[in-house]
Amino acid sequence: MDLEPLARAALPPAHWGYLATGVDDDRTVSANHDAFSRVEIRSSRFVDVSHSDTSVKLFGVTWPSPVYLSAVSSQRAFHPDGELATARAAGTRSALLMLSNAASTAVEPVAEARGGPVWMQLYPTDDWAVTSGVVRRAERAGCPVIVLTVDNMPGRNNETLQRASRLDGRTCTDCHIGNSHDFVHKAPMYSGLDLSRVKEHTPSSITWEFLDRLRQLVSVKLVVKGIVTGEDAERCVAHRVDGIVVSNHGGRNEETLRSTLECLPEIIAAVRGRVPVLIDGGVRRGTDVFKALALGAAAVGVGRPQAWGLAAFGQSGVEAVLDIYSRELRVIMRQAGTPTIAAINRDHIVSRLST
Ligand SMILES: Cc1cc2nc3c(=O)[nH]c(=O)nc-3n(C[C@H](O)[C@H](O)[C@H](O)COP(=O)(O)O)c2cc1C
Repeated sequence: MDLEPLARAALPPAHWGYLATGVDDDRTVSANHDAFSRVEIRSSRFVDVSHSDTSVKLFGVTWPSPVYLSAVSSQRAFHPDGELATARAAGTRSALLMLSNAASTAVEPVAEARGGPVWMQLYPTDDWAVTSGVVRRAERAGCPVIVLTVDNMPGRNNETLQRASRLDGRTCTDCHIGNSHDFVHKAPMYSGLDLSRVKEHTPSSITWEFLDRLRQLVSVKLVVKGIVTGEDAERCVAHRVDGIVVSNHGGRNEETLRSTLECLPEIIAAVRGRVPVLIDGGVRRGTDVFKALALGAAAVGVGRPQAWGLAAFGQSGVEAVLDIYSRELRVIMRQAGTPTIAAINRDHIVSRLST
């Protein structure tokens, strides 16, 4: 959290507003984080924790930490090196990186900077030719996983961003060509595609039939990001997705007041171990990671903190963020008597969440 004010100081007001904003009164942003305070940790004694192992396996790949860098768009708004700095940090820490479809750098140079494949997040748009263009490009770039984001309907009431933008005296058009904040038309992942028919980045007409069609198109693993109910999780599995991310986009899209941690148990119950369930939203401490794992998450994503590190210090800032999570997770695992990630389960927490 100490990086947050440093990032704020480093960024122009509008870019800070873009990073920090939720919607309406930003109460879902707070709810995500506050929920972790309603879960307590039960420590076991007389467990040999002299060797601890924080590694997790996802789709056959072993990662040294369950913490991954979730999709954060337009990272050159936070640092001139943008996604390349984040990717290098992920590389030096062998961390899983989910690249935003709306990134300011395309997947090929990002994968090169990462030194290995990255997961590709997908905003499909309402034009199937564009959907397939992005998916095929990501697959050609070696992405082993496509992550379809389903919680970002067009139009959001991001008042914190709007207020901050009014405080920003700079001329947007100096950098935003044609004053375009429309990422579909400026994000390099869509370049070379005919965008003339695109009206929405997440089609507001999206249904389960769309998911089936996408499932047929995607030849690698397909994960759905933005699921917050057990019913939808159950249907995702029935529609043959390979994984689910419990996410409300960091409280940026809808003011539900329902934290993702609160949503996690019903999704874990619905999925019954058939596919991995990941979670993001408000994770700010190693103990938060521990609690999400104890509630059944297979891995834990961080959004804003990576951008705080990036804005404040570039690559080394993102490395610092990853290091802090790793160090704190190791400490609580030792203290709680859980030498491995597999050892962390419901017995190690008391949940005062309403679910
Ligand atoms: C500035 C910013 C941009 C984001 N861009 C995307 C995006 O392009 N695609 C996406 O699926 N999620 C995006 N997210 C959501 C994150 O992937 C993640 O779900 C969320 O940030 C987690 O909450 P946290 O910020 O509290 O860690 C973005 C979040 C932020 C803060």
